[in-house]
Amino acid sequence: MSTEVWILGGTGRSGRAVAGELVRRGVTPVLVGRDAARLTATAAEYGAARTVVAGTVAEMATEIRRRQPAVVINTIGPFTTTAAPIIQACLPGSHYIDLANDLAALTVVFGFDTAATAAGRTLVTGAGFGVTATESVVVKLCENRPAPDSVRVNMVPSLGMEAGTVGEALAATLLDGLPGVPGGGRYDGRRYLNGRLVKSRIGSDRENLRLPDGTHVTTASIPLGELMAAHHASGAPTVTSASSEFPSSPLIRAVLPIATALLTITPIRTYAKRKLATTKTPARPRPRPHSWGHARLHWNDGTTLEGWLKLGDAQTFTGAIPAELAHRLLTTPAKPGSHTPAALYGPTLAEACGAEYLITT
Ligand SMILES: NC(=O)c1ccc[n+]([C@@H]2O[C@H](COP(=O)([O-])OP(=O)(O)OC[C@H]3O[C@@H](n4cnc5c(N)ncnc54)[C@H](OP(=O)(O)O)[C@@H]3O)[C@@H](O)[C@H]2O)c1
Repeated sequence: MSTEVWILGGTGRSGRAVAGELVRRGVTPVLVGRDAARLTATAAEYGAARTVVAGTVAEMATEIRRRQPAVVINTIGPFTTTAAPIIQACLPGSHYIDLANDLAALTVVFGFDTAATAAGRTLVTGAGFGVTATESVVVKLCENRPAPDSVRVNMVPSLGMEAGTVGEALAATLLDGLPGVPGGGRYDGRRYLNGRLVKSRIGSDRENLRLPDGTHVTTASIPLGELMAAHHASGAPTVTSASSEFPSSPLIRAVLPIATALLTITPIRTYAKRKLATTKTPARPRPRPHSWGHARLHWNDGTTLEGWLKLGDAQTFTGAIPAELAHRLLTTPAKPGSHTPAALYGPTLAEACGAEYLITT
């Protein structure tokens, strides 16, 4: 039986970060990608075992079926497109991890729960900062307690950026919206009400949040994977998720409805994705010393609990979570089916990746 861990998109920002974290844990990864020269250079830099050159996601799926690595880490977005073919290829013999952070992709992976359970495979989606930082606080606060009545999670990432381009994967993730997610349209926001996903306005539920370091950020509702993860992990019927990354400018909020209406037109969306993918991004230092995951849980008896997860660079954490998951999947039998990281491994997962809890209540 294979003990190999494959990283799909091994030359990308996240792929390289995951490779480094796997090596730190004593796991030598196999890098999978479409450019032989860049793969070889990255493999040499990170001490990878070998490389697999595959021109498309379909070719990667064929290689997975043929070689059945123990664990496949998918860093190729948009995960709404790549998750299904890769998971189908994994079901015969490989566990699966991805870095999805959008509701549509989490919906796809949860759709494989029955098939994965029957096949005895573990699928972990949301294995990056976005989902894991907030979900971990929810899981920590819910320990030994009944399901809360409402939950709000706030995601406050801090990450430095190297100069480069936005890239196809991120451009598509940003502009494809939420195809196939119940409760509203492709470009509507979402929240949970009475246990069901319903429409909400993107950018609503604004909150001026005082961070534990004394500084303030504004967060606003944005329909990302942490909404679904917080709902699953807590069992709360009412859940809102918000992020400091939502542009707070009134101008952007005014333009957003028109922009999203135009994006429903396929040729415009395709053009916008191509333009955005090649847009240059300047190098950017981290905006604050720490990244934060925050959750506030409320019970109808009047109890409110609040907690934080404190960590450094969000991108470093996004490299560490899949690596830690892969290491655990390699060494210990895990529950089959579809999961998010902290729902599967509990609050200690984030601590094993360098994060620290601050429970303020
Ligand atoms: N959950 C989180 O918190 C979190 C955090 C960071 C990133 N992410 C997500 O992770 C994904 C990757 O982000 P990133 O910053 O690592 O992007 P990136 O640097 O652009 O890397 C993407 C990788 O995917 C490969 N790729 C893209 N399209 C492909 C295709 N059609 N077929 C085969 N390979 C393809 C690229 O290959 P080439 O090198 O050949 O172009 C590259 O190796 C994005 O969707 C992003 O949203 C999530």
